[in-house]
Amino acid sequence: MPIKLGRYHQWFLYVVGVILTLSGAVWLYLHYFVRVEGEFGPIHHPSEHLLLTVHGITAALMMVGLGSVLPGHVSRAWSMRRNVKTGIFMLTMMVILSLSGYFLYYLGAKGLRDITAIVHWAIGLALPLLAWLHVHRGIKTRMRK
Ligand code: HEM
Ligand code: HEM
Repeated sequence: MPIKLGRYHQWFLYVVGVILTLSGAVWLYLHYFVRVEGEFGPIHHPSEHLLLTVHGITAALMMVGLGSVLPGHVSRAWSMRRNVKTGIFMLTMMVILSLSGYFLYYLGAKGLRDITAIVHWAIGLALPLLAWLHVHRGIKTRMRK
């Protein structure tokens, strides 16, 4: 299997990645900066729930995406020592995001939950930049060969 991902494979990762990040980022904005008028005073924006549902679904799809790059993309690139630094960084961030994400979903202990949430969304917001760096470096090192 080649390192280079097929066109549809790339599309899957980019589309899922964008929806995943946007749903998380917009949720953050609404949750911390927006209140709407409810019957008994200000309440959370009603779209928050839908956004987290979309986030949960795309998070599961991203786990499929992660699994899909391991046998070809990652193992070939690993044995050829190409783009390994940003690749390992990508893998590490994905693992932290998935563990903290499911921790947020299943566990409610207040103090620990707050710290997990901050770790989760701080890494989440940085993910697009990291992904861009990974792709950019990967393509650049391919050209040089
Ligand atoms: C592999 C990537 C990711 C996975 C597996 C993942 C998974 C999850 C899961 C399972 C939840 C709990 C959903 C719920 O309570 O219904 C969650 C919450 C959240 N995620 Fe992600 N997520 C990922 C990436 C991201 C990214 C890229 C962002 C970007 C900002 C993000 C921001 C958030 C936020 C803000 C929450 C709500 C936190 C809270 O409840 O305080 N996540 N995530
Ligand atoms: C979270 C895991 C990863 C994801 C989602 C991912 C995704 C991608 C994507 C979308 C591209 C650009 C499309 C392409 O060139 O085919 C790319 C390029 C590349 N990645 Fe990854 N990657 C991951 C992990 C890794 C790891 C661990 C390595 C190295 C051990 C690696 C090595 C490379 C290389 C060498 C390229 C350039 C391939 C080329 O010549 O086109 N990736 N990656």
